[in-house]
Amino acid sequence: MSHSSTADWLQDRIAASVAPLLPGFAVEAVAEIDSTNTELMRRARAGRVEPVLLVAERQTAGRGRLGRPWQSGAQHDAAASSLTFSLGMPLAPADWSGLSLAVGVAVAEGLDPSGEHKVGLKWPNDIWVDDRKLVGILIETALSSDGGPQASRYAVIGIGINIGAREGGGMRTPPAWLHQWRPGVTAPEVLAELAEPLVRTVLDFEARGFAPFAERFAARDVLRGREVTLSDGTAGLCEGVAWGGELQVRTDAGVQLISSDEVSVRPRGMAF
Ligand code: BTN
Repeated sequence: MSHSSTADWLQDRIAASVAPLLPGFAVEAVAEIDSTNTELMRRARAGRVEPVLLVAERQTAGRGRLGRPWQSGAQHDAAASSLTFSLGMPLAPADWSGLSLAVGVAVAEGLDPSGEHKVGLKWPNDIWVDDRKLVGILIETALSSDGGPQASRYAVIGIGINIGAREGGGMRTPPAWLHQWRPGVTAPEVLAELAEPLVRTVLDFEARGFAPFAERFAARDVLRGREVTLSDGTAGLCEGVAWGGELQVRTDAGVQLISSDEVSVRPRGMAF
């Protein structure tokens, strides 16, 4: 089970910035939990679908995409070395495609507003610096139990950010971390900076879909113009992301639109 955090996660400041956008919004901080995504999905299945941001100093079973584990930084100083949190909120967009891309745009712009630190977006939902992963995003949804013809789903948007230097141990590509260009910034400060723009982005996506974010994604797209290989064996030249959020890959058989998030993609020559 979880234990309340003793650290100052600036909950009041975060709640005050987000509540005007999301009535009833609350911030919860815990010292340790299996996974903030798992916890919010458990709550949703139990009918608890209130808007909440849950941050954990340590996750004992952090999860990534495609069933992979997500390991945070050093256990002795997890709050300093990584930021792991999930935003849970009811959501009813007309079309869900591109939500993870829009979330990536909000986080990348929040971490590197001018783009000078080359914080880039790697379809569908990683944030890279110099081909090294800085942020992972895992989005899951549960049926909201309120029923009715307009039933929305409950979206759980999990974000893991490397704040301090991390061992590359076991990872094929060593990670990137925020202290590379923002030495001394703390996980609570980063969370306080990102929370409101993130919620605003998700609400904007709900109202207008991915299309309004497409140009901002393209400005940071790290795959566009590169030869890529997909985990299903497809290879070709990446032509960026379409307005519907699909990855466009020019192969010998023509341009293919990749929408499945069951597929992984890498620049050619980089291991999966
Ligand atoms: C990925 O890169 O495959 C996605 C990683 C997502 C990690 C975050 S950390 C907070 C939230 N809780 C989890 O268990 N996973 C997400």
